[in-house]
Formats: sequence, C-alpha cells, structure tokens
Amino acid sequence: MAKRFRGLNSTLIHCGERPDPTTGAVVPPIYQTTTFAFPTNESMLDLMEGRTSGYIYTRYGNPNYALAESKIAALEGAQSALVLASGMAATSTAITALARTGDHIISHADIYGGSFGLFHDLLPRFGLETSFVDATNLHNVEQAIRTSTKIIFLESPSNPSLRVCDIRAIADLAHAHGIRVVVDNTFATPYNQKPLALGADAVVHSGTKYLNGHSDVMAGAIVGTQEYIDECINVFRKLGGNLNAIDSWLLNRGMKTFGLRMARHNENGQAVAEFLSHHPKIERVHYPGLSTHPQHELAKKQMTGFGGVLSIELKGGQKDVDRFLNRVELFTRAVSLGSVESLITQPVAAVHHNVPPQYRELGGITANLVRISVGIEDVEDILEDLGQALE
Ligand SMILES: Cc1ncc(COP(=O)(O)O)c(C=O)c1O
Repeated sequence: MAKRFRGLNSTLIHCGERPDPTTGAVVPPIYQTTTFAFPTNESMLDLMEGRTSGYIYTRYGNPNYALAESKIAALEGAQSALVLASGMAATSTAITALARTGDHIISHADIYGGSFGLFHDLLPRFGLETSFVDATNLHNVEQAIRTSTKIIFLESPSNPSLRVCDIRAIADLAHAHGIRVVVDNTFATPYNQKPLALGADAVVHSGTKYLNGHSDVMAGAIVGTQEYIDECINVFRKLGGNLNAIDSWLLNRGMKTFGLRMARHNENGQAVAEFLSHHPKIERVHYPGLSTHPQHELAKKQMTGFGGVLSIELKGGQKDVDRFLNRVELFTRAVSLGSVESLITQPVAAVHHNVPPQYRELGGITANLVRISVGIEDVEDILEDLGQALE
C-alpha cells in the first residue's frame, strides 16, 4: 500500500514515486513508447482479461500517466483520477461518460468559452440540451431542473467573472433530484477548494493551468470514484483524448512545486486585487478574496485561499483597454492562466469571443473586462507594472 503523508507538499513530492528498479534513477524515466512487449502470447491474453495488470498500448495507459494520476487523486481527496490530453478532453469525457441522448444539462452561465462551445454547439448534435443559468443564485438552478436533467456543471470561481457558486447547496439540491454535479476546479485548484468534500460527484481540471504551472504542457484531469473513472476510461479510450508520456512526466514534475506556487499565487492575487480596487482608473475588481465581492462570505466558507486570477472592469472604452494592455511590460498579453509568469487578456477579444451576446451578458462578460493571471514574480514588480500601464 502506498505510504500516505500528512502534508500536501510531502504528498506531491513522494506520492507514487520510487527509484527506478533497474537503474536506481531517482527521477522516473519518460516511457516514450507507444507499445509494450509481452514475454508470451498467453501473458497478453492474461492482461486483456484482467488476470494481471500492466501496460499494452499508450492510448490505454502508460506508467507516466499513473504517477501524475496518483498525485491528482491525492490532492482532491478522490478515489481515482484520469489524466487526458487537455482540459477540454477532460470536460468532454467527464460529461459524455455521464450523459445519454435526451438528457438535459444545467451549466453555470459564466464558464470557460471552450466549455460553453461544447455545451452550446456540439452536444445538441447528440441530443443533449443545456440550460445556462446564473448558478450563483440557487433559485435559478432549481427553476431550471427538469425530469430529464442529469448533470449540473459548475465553475467556481468562474472564468472570467470570478463568480462563486455554493457547491454544497447545489450538490444537495442536485442529489435530491438524482442529478450529478461536475465542478471545473481549474481556477480554485485543490490547494484552495475541494469540491468532492463539498458534495460534488466529479471534478475536472485543465492541468494546463496551475497543476502544471509552467505554460509548457497541455493536460487535463478527471477525478471521482473508481466506478466513475472506470466509465471515463471506457469513453476516453474510444474518443482517443489521451495525454502522452512526456507531458505526463512534465505534469508530474510541475506538481512537485504546486503547493509552493499556489501559496505565492494566493498572496500575489490578493495584493493585486487590493491595489486595483483602490485605483481611480478601475471601475470594479472581481476577486473572491475582496470583502466587496458579492459572494465573499461564501468564498471564505468553501475556499481556503482565492488564487491568482482576477478580472477588472476598466473605466472608459475599447481605446482605454487597448492602451492598458499595450503598455504592460512584465505581464505578457496572452490567453491561458495559472502559470508562473503573469498573463493578461481581454476575454471578449479571444477566449470568450465566440460566446453570443445574451450569454456574455448573463456571465458578466463585458467589453471592458480584462482578465489578469497573477504569476509568482515579486509582487512589487507586478504592482509597478500595472500602475505604470494604467497611468
Ligand atoms: C476554467 C477552464 N476550464 C477548462 C479549460 C480548458 O482547458 P485546456 O485549454 O487545457 O483544454 C480552460 C482553458 O482556459 C479553463 O480556463
């Protein structure tokens, strides 16, 4: 049985790790292979029929996946985890593993643009209808429930408006109607929030973001019960959205410093939110760690920290947004978030560009909204850069 550790950092450094049995290498090798050899023909059949365990083909599994999966499951306090090629592979697999033609889904309106596209554009082709609601209000969720509702999908805090949904209250409501709750925990991360402990049935991640943390890997993860992850494995082997050995290795390496990085993201995110909330050029700051955030009390109840992503509404029009974004020097104008370096983007220009106006309005995605992913640089440099860009 794997040794269990008390602390998050010890778990991330040691969970699943052991020196390579053939060479003694302390760092695990990258199993850069598509296929695995069998000593006999019979042994291949033994594996296929579940009498032995092991690897046969990298789309079905690879030792590098297993190591990253054991860490993600430990982080979320889950029975099991599955790594996939991207956050979108995780969300699409997590949903299709639960849904059947004719099912109805309720989604929080303010979600990542790619997830919105999955629910709004793609799933209807397969007979799955999604209602988008402002799930910060439990009444809206309750009103949207139909007899055919099977899944409630939440992001909390959400992308890009940092709205906070009451995961426990929504899970209680859902379970009373036999509905499953899937939470995208990319923004909060398991460092700050554990949706399964709050009653959610499954969690998805864009591992591309904080889990890996270095803007050099696309990855996704699903966590939940062993039974549910087995169904996700069944679906993903057919869809083919597997990760690969080297990206799993990098993800596993990145996760070793996840705890240290998140502590710094939390500190820097709070400092930037406070600085901008007093700035005369800023209309509003959306960050759950601010006492002015409409769900601050709820955020304090279900989160232990508030992360490094915030969004701001700039005073003025498009010219002022352009001017601000064009003047930053330490920040990089780029989509994505959750990495060591600070990134900045205007959601309507890229990530939420394809979200139709009525859904943008529901999600609070205005034209003067700027999303900031605060990195782990020295906070005085971050504040100085934002200050000079706003001058
Ligand atoms: C909250 C959230 N979920 C999911 C995704 C999709 O992840 P990926 O880009 O790894 O497919 C993103 C991407 O930005 C995201 O922000």
